[in-house]
Amino acid sequence: MYRIAIISSSVRTGRRSHRVALYFKKYLTENKIAEADILDLNKYKFPLFEERLKYQESPSEDVLEFSGRIKKADGVIIVSPEYNGGYPASLKNVIDLLFDHWHRKPVAISTVSDGNFGGTQVITSLQFTLWKIGTWTVPAMFPVPNVDDLFDESGNLYDNTDQEKRAKRFVNELIWCIDAKKAMDSRDENK
Ligand SMILES: Cc1cc2nc3c(=O)[nH]c(=O)nc-3n(C[C@H](O)[C@H](O)[C@H](O)COP(=O)(O)O)c2cc1C
Repeated sequence: MYRIAIISSSVRTGRRSHRVALYFKKYLTENKIAEADILDLNKYKFPLFEERLKYQESPSEDVLEFSGRIKKADGVIIVSPEYNGGYPASLKNVIDLLFDHWHRKPVAISTVSDGNFGGTQVITSLQFTLWKIGTWTVPAMFPVPNVDDLFDESGNLYDNTDQEKRAKRFVNELIWCIDAKKAMDSRDENK
């Protein structure tokens, strides 16, 4: 069984993108694809970090728990809202917190907006940051436009046909990258 961490990035009161994180958790567990945890940045309520984890003298338990869950995950899905054409500060805060944890980690990006474009302007900046920090960004998208019309508050799709197909393709790409990474890791271990 794969282990997938889903980062729900919006900390906004009344946020909508969390619905997509809930959806992926259900999708992965109900289809028995992976054990999936939501790393909910609204629940963690992290401060704006003054330093990266490896330089913190006494990191909080929450920080250690968060970093442990990223470390343990075979792959990560980031669910990000689009704020003024970019991703939220809450997300940058936790990306910059870690370093080794991200190395070659397969990361798939789902962007969310309440408009027609599904938050796709987030992709270039977020993908660049993730590339820069050494993750393995999965070449697949799951943009969610008009989020209110597609998902209810519990993360259920109102009409599942097209979205479910898109979710399948998106998740399959992530799993392919996880498998590829595992294959390369075992090759390196056997050297
Ligand atoms: C500060 C801020 C900036 C936003 N900028 C954009 C934007 O550039 N493009 C867009 O489509 N939606 C934008 N939105 C609307 C979000 O797409 C909408 O809130 C959506 O539900 C995802 O964010 P949420 O999870 O915080 O609700 C913005 C929302 C906020 C709070």
